[in-house]
Amino acid sequence: MNLFEWTPAIAVGITTIDDQHKKLISLINDVSDAMKARKAAEVIGSVLQELSDYTVHHFGNEERAFERYSYPDKEAHMAAHRIYVDKIHELIERNKKGELGISISVLDFLMDWITNHIMKTDMQYVPFFKDKEIG
Ligand SMILES: [Fe+2]
Repeated sequence: MNLFEWTPAIAVGITTIDDQHKKLISLINDVSDAMKARKAAEVIGSVLQELSDYTVHHFGNEERAFERYSYPDKEAHMAAHRIYVDKIHELIERNKKGELGISISVLDFLMDWITNHIMKTDMQYVPFFKDKEIG
């Protein structure tokens, strides 16, 4: 069962980025499903790792464009990305120690953060990138 779906309300209007956001949300739902089904820590660990890898890939795509075009807000935006990646890494470590279980607060955090980030921080770059390449 999905706890959250991508909706047009969080579309940035750049197809490649919207597709990547859909994939991120789908991976967070996979983590949620694995936790709620009380899967083994190794299973939860592997979906968390997949989420981590894809998050790094997606943020990297944005950040390369920020560098290439000297996006004015790049430092703050990249700092926000680092916080999220660090948090996912922390969850991976906690899961390895058997400390995660079904953690609704973890799931809420993962989904709320990405939704807020898309709607506030990513939305800010849309006018800047409308005639440039990103993603
Ligand atoms: Fe971003």
